[in-house]
Amino acid sequence: MAAGDNSNAIEMEDSKIPLLTPYKMGRFNLSHRIVLAPLTRMRSYNFTAQPHAILYYSQRTTKGGFLIGEASAISETAIGGPNIPGIWKREHVEAWKPIVDGVHQKGGIFFCQLWHAGRASNFCFQPNGQSPVSSTDKPITSKFRIDGTTASAFPAPRRLTTEEIPQIVQDHRIAARNAIEAGFDGVEIHGANGYLIDQFLKDKVNDRTDIYGGSLENRCRFALEVVKAVAEEIGADRVGIRLSPFADYNDCGDSNAEALGLYMAESLNKLGILYCHMIEPRMITQFEEQQTRHSLLPMRKAFKGTFIVAGGYTRDNGNEVITRGGADLVAFGRLFLANPDLPRRFELNAPLNKYDRSTFYTFDPVIGYTDYPFLDGIV
Ligand SMILES: Cc1cc2nc3c(=O)[nH]c(=O)nc-3n(C[C@H](O)[C@H](O)[C@H](O)COP(=O)(O)O)c2cc1C
Repeated sequence: MAAGDNSNAIEMEDSKIPLLTPYKMGRFNLSHRIVLAPLTRMRSYNFTAQPHAILYYSQRTTKGGFLIGEASAISETAIGGPNIPGIWKREHVEAWKPIVDGVHQKGGIFFCQLWHAGRASNFCFQPNGQSPVSSTDKPITSKFRIDGTTASAFPAPRRLTTEEIPQIVQDHRIAARNAIEAGFDGVEIHGANGYLIDQFLKDKVNDRTDIYGGSLENRCRFALEVVKAVAEEIGADRVGIRLSPFADYNDCGDSNAEALGLYMAESLNKLGILYCHMIEPRMITQFEEQQTRHSLLPMRKAFKGTFIVAGGYTRDNGNEVITRGGADLVAFGRLFLANPDLPRRFELNAPLNKYDRSTFYTFDPVIGYTDYPFLDGIV
């Protein structure tokens, strides 16, 4: 039995594993529950999505499958790394169109992830070499980048003034409109992994004394204003948000992650958005798992829309979380990156390609990107 009142009962056809059962997510009829997690691939030269992404995304598309695109910068100040795609300019919209078309031609449902890196950026990515902006003026002190390998120091950010915040909300709204114009079926607001929205949410970072800091309600205000603006612009039934209340990536932890996750789940209900996508507490960084006594179940029960989970999922524990009603959908990152035909492999319980971490964030348009073989050996 499903734990949440909102979860679809799973009709167990003998031949189908739970991950391969259909699910109706609002207006979208999904043929299975295996979601492509948002994956930055750093192959978008000049901050513009490139034609090689047509093949990459269409390789990972199934009829009725749900894909979340890589983090896409909502403005010039949102950029947090090299060769990431933007979604704030006309050129960006035009560049995304054939990629979205490719997914639609194969019957996929495709959302754009809207991203502002905040202080997880550097002078070289900012307009006029200025400081990155954040909720705070404290820099990230951790020595390692988010990929867990490359040592890097982040500069001290500039604290956004209260008066500047509505403009960042507006940038999200415009980016959402652009995403729809590019053909995306909806957007996922990136509120996870220590980026700008998370920098407001978490009390380890947010040291503001205005209406955007201090109490839980104040720390969540910016995130909820963004969600509200985006929902007003494109319709709440096309909006999801990704959150990682328990994670501490980019030096972004919270003293009471469960209260934060619950407050967000309940507030999101009032805005009626399509889905909430949460990263499992076991993922302390993007790649490292740890033992934890925490669970997403309270948030899953509190949230009334579709609940997506991510972080360290496999065929087995993915089936298990669907069966016990812990989630409606499961997003797969590294396994989907390395296995373009992941749903098929799960169906057959076939062996999986191993992912190559060294090409996660390299700039090659083919290697480590579109050259992972399908089961039949064809790339
Ligand atoms: C190469 C790579 C890029 C990623 N880029 C993003 C991103 O753009 N947005 C995001 O929310 N998460 C990003 N993540 C996190 C994944 O979406 C996912 O949460 C993480 O990999 C854990 O899931 P997994 O165990 O299935 O890989 C990235 C992960 C990897 C490996």
